[in-house]
Amino acid sequence: MKMIDFRSDTVTWPTPEMREAMANAPVGDDVYGEDPTVNELEAEAAAMLGKEAGLFVASGTMGNITAALTHCGRGEEMILGREAHMFRYEAGSSAALGGIHPHIVDVQPDGTLKLEAIQGAIRANNEHFPRTKLICLENTQGTVGGIPITAEYTEQVGEIARKHNLKLHIDGARLFNAAAALNTSAKTLVAPADSVSICLSKGLCAPVGSVLVGSKAFIAEARRTRKALGGGMRQAGILAAAGLISLRQMTQRLGDDHANARALAEGLATIPCIQIDLSRVQSNMIFFDLHKDAPLTAEAFSARLKADYNILIAPYPGYTSRFRAVTHYWITRDHVQHSIEAIRTILS
Ligand SMILES: Cc1ncc(COP(=O)(O)O)c(C=O)c1O
Repeated sequence: MKMIDFRSDTVTWPTPEMREAMANAPVGDDVYGEDPTVNELEAEAAAMLGKEAGLFVASGTMGNITAALTHCGRGEEMILGREAHMFRYEAGSSAALGGIHPHIVDVQPDGTLKLEAIQGAIRANNEHFPRTKLICLENTQGTVGGIPITAEYTEQVGEIARKHNLKLHIDGARLFNAAAALNTSAKTLVAPADSVSICLSKGLCAPVGSVLVGSKAFIAEARRTRKALGGGMRQAGILAAAGLISLRQMTQRLGDDHANARALAEGLATIPCIQIDLSRVQSNMIFFDLHKDAPLTAEAFSARLKADYNILIAPYPGYTSRFRAVTHYWITRDHVQHSIEAIRTILS
């Protein structure tokens, strides 16, 4: 990769081994259920997450919307974070496509939703109200800096869901980062969930795809929903072959990305014009701010890094001087050191 691209882990290219596996993947018509590589990927993802069945979908957004549409009917409600990807960045799809009423509550700095806020958002049985059907969590919670959510917290939310006969969905786009950060298994983190969507195409490097997992009955329904969304793919084994490498190998190396994020954060913390809270660096993301006395604006900072050093770090939307940097497979420790020195130079 010529550019050192910290904008996101979505920019990751497939590895050479993935390209090889894709070229040689056995395939069939997956809408007929006949693609052996897709079937293998779905079964393997389900087993890793402790669920009965899986469904290969085109993207994280499709995994989440397929889950929401399968759990909720029109006019029914889902409770989720104001800062959740499902609320902020999925084009209002749950409302637009499913007539689902999102009931948002604040996301805490540690990525959780206050249990009392969830409790308070659950509707009484009254004809004036929408019916509450679903609670959604995100792990890691991206918008607060890739903060992992513990199994203990998720179990408490699961308890609330069970008590009120609600379903629990986890947007696990970066669930394996959470597992690596908390030194536990992905399965443990999602034990109370009825459905989980994981992304193969972010830190796990596959070119395309997510897997939604849940019970056999849920996945049978979700298959219909996916078809309705136009997501029934045919010889998708070409893509699933890369996803199998994501699950088997790439999940095992995420600690390297986390160590690189920490090294980057610690290096940046030594630069006077940069403000960074090291305690918030817990997985593969860091947020940092330019001090108001910095010699460059946020836009000029990004532009200089790109033009002079081939480094891509974009200002974080909604803030005047905040940046997010994400580490991933294609960012090495040398890139990190080079980037720290480049930033030191342009801010001196
Ligand atoms: C937490 C989270 N969920 C879901 C998604 C959606 O994934 P996709 O871009 O594959 O639709 C993203 C994408 O960045 C994400 O960060």
